[in-house]
Amino acid sequence: MRSVFAFPCLLLVLSATGMLHAQQEQVIYDEADVPKFTLPDPLVAADGTKIESAQAWNEIRRPELMGLFEKEVYGKSPAAPEKIAFEVTESSDDALGGKARRRQVAIRLTDDPEGPVLNLLVYLPKTDQPVPTFMTLNFFGNASIQDDPAIQLPQSWLRNSTDKGVDNHKATEKLRGASSSRWPVEMIVENGYGLATAYYGDIDPDFDDKFQNGIHPYFYEEGQTEPKPDQWGSIAAWAWGMSRALDYMQQDNEIDGSKVIVMGHSRLGKTALWAGASDPRFAAVISNNSGCGGAALSRRRFGESVKRINTSFPHWFCDNFTKYNHNEDACPVDQHELIALIAPRPCLVCSAVEDRWADPHGEFLSAHFASPVYELLGVEGLAADEMPKVDEPVLSRLGYVIRPGKHDVLKSDWERYMQFADAHLLGKGN
Ligand code: GCU
Repeated sequence: MRSVFAFPCLLLVLSATGMLHAQQEQVIYDEADVPKFTLPDPLVAADGTKIESAQAWNEIRRPELMGLFEKEVYGKSPAAPEKIAFEVTESSDDALGGKARRRQVAIRLTDDPEGPVLNLLVYLPKTDQPVPTFMTLNFFGNASIQDDPAIQLPQSWLRNSTDKGVDNHKATEKLRGASSSRWPVEMIVENGYGLATAYYGDIDPDFDDKFQNGIHPYFYEEGQTEPKPDQWGSIAAWAWGMSRALDYMQQDNEIDGSKVIVMGHSRLGKTALWAGASDPRFAAVISNNSGCGGAALSRRRFGESVKRINTSFPHWFCDNFTKYNHNEDACPVDQHELIALIAPRPCLVCSAVEDRWADPHGEFLSAHFASPVYELLGVEGLAADEMPKVDEPVLSRLGYVIRPGKHDVLKSDWERYMQFADAHLLGKGN
């Protein structure tokens, strides 16, 4: 009897250890384990032509790389709608105890009256001039960023969280200000910047439902039920939604539409990079702890790998990206080329020491290897050849900073973002 039971038990133990081992093997946390790899050269076209002028970059290589990222990584998004319908739903010139103006704007993402609506919350300093403005999506709805009773609670699906006051996927009053540590609104406004934010789930709820809800179905062809392998996943949809917010912002006289800085954290950092690459109207891009599929080089496989991200979040990228699971070297692009697509606009890549899952060194290397494109376009690239020390920010036009601490957005991070924007968009001293 004993042996009959012992055998399957042993098998179970062995396979459980095997699985654990396989999982442990997959996550590289040691530089010594990073495989050798060769990066595609952003300045060599697919047919081998060397790209030696800004014109050749703009006419040959940039469109080629855009096409490759669309086809193989994020998926192609639909064109911008011809016109954008919006309605200012709330407005106050006496927000934040009289320090700011607040606007809430409902932006219709399709011409279907039942279609998704992006609710944009805007805080602006009190000035008569149009202001440079940060545009960033949020994870839990606009009401989570600031304890301000005038902010409408989100109506869309939310990820459950007791801490944030989300119950049964719906917002409760407890949500108000629950993420405020990441959003130093007063400080931003006092420094002369506007802040525009919207809930990413207004565009596409962040779970894998094979694209039945959110924005995707509004663009299906007759009979289509989910995006094709080269069509937009959720990251591309969120980025597309940011461009719709920018459509609105560019015609709002209170905002300087030529100075909108797209910023994002984590999965929304990946989104900010793709939004900045695909929409040149964004004047500058800031990626915070964006990691795999964001600023980190995929070929390093350090921390989160392509296979892991595609398995845990099958809806984020296009289906073609799964071809590169455990097969990163076959991908015709890597993430330094995503940053190159932002050139010559200012771009700041931000890492955190304890955020090893996002591969800080890989994030630095992406900026480093994008640098030649900035230089070819006649502007300063990353002013560091080596990974800078912690808390020694390199705030060149293509910048990189690593700070102590965890995967998060801190008030001190926002100080850096503004210092960076001051220098590169407003021409103020660094
Ligand atoms: C997970 C995921 C990351 C992502 C992060 C986030 O950790 O693996 O890729 O950046 O979630 O968005 O919070």
